[in-house]
Amino acid sequence: MKMQPSLERGLRSFFVKPEGNSMPELTYHHICIPTNVVRPDEEYNEQFKLYASGYSQSPYGIEWMRFEPECPLPEIVKTVPHIGFVVDDLEAALSDKEVLVAPLNPVDGVTTATIIYNGSPIEFLRFDRPESEIWPHELKHRTMQKLTYHHFGVPTSTPRPEDQYMPKYKTYASGYLENPYGVEWMRFEPSAPLHELVKTVPHIAFVVDNLEATIVGKEVLGEPNSPSKGITVAMIADNGAPVEFLQFEGPEFEVWPRDAKFRPR
Ligand SMILES: [Fe+2]
Repeated sequence: MKMQPSLERGLRSFFVKPEGNSMPELTYHHICIPTNVVRPDEEYNEQFKLYASGYSQSPYGIEWMRFEPECPLPEIVKTVPHIGFVVDDLEAALSDKEVLVAPLNPVDGVTTATIIYNGSPIEFLRFDRPESEIWPHELKHRTMQKLTYHHFGVPTSTPRPEDQYMPKYKTYASGYLENPYGVEWMRFEPSAPLHELVKTVPHIAFVVDNLEATIVGKEVLGEPNSPSKGITVAMIADNGAPVEFLQFEGPEFEVWPRDAKFRPR
């Protein structure tokens, strides 16, 4: 995939200086949620002995995967949700990382590999030619271009030393500040005032310019609210998973300063 020069520069500077944070420039591709539930639109993948569904129907790249016992993938991929990003230099993306699944070709023209970061599998995908030629997905290619990835929230019941408590949501969150891929672990108290879907299914979050316009006609999971001054968020349901949208009143690095994310390179 041909990247814009600015994006190329952003990724390169990230990989040259791994302690930096390239999140604003990372190209989101999909999230994958393991499930035991049989879904009507499943497609069987003989190579990996798994059933995949949802991706083609989701403008937000949400895919469900149901694994057969013989699936040769590592156990963590079968149990922990992962996020995938498009990169133009796979080797650089894997450099100095804990590689979980070495590069392989799921289909001609695509190479993928998976690392582990802070307990999460992170997948990278490199396309030899435009993705729209390899995996035509009109819904996605029409919508995703307008979406700016922000974070991936994954429910957990495991306390972590870096957990931060958010009284308003009765939720502990951890990982986001240190994670260059924006993966956040979320542990909910039983009385957390959030939709059940948010407490049980991972959510993908995007920055939008106009929150109100974005959620019109969607299945909204609670009224838009403000987690912090200058930010409004709302959740919708898509393809059985929550999708969060964030609108910032001004540049994010001013509204929500987070050193790890906006550290100068
Ligand atoms: Fe979130």
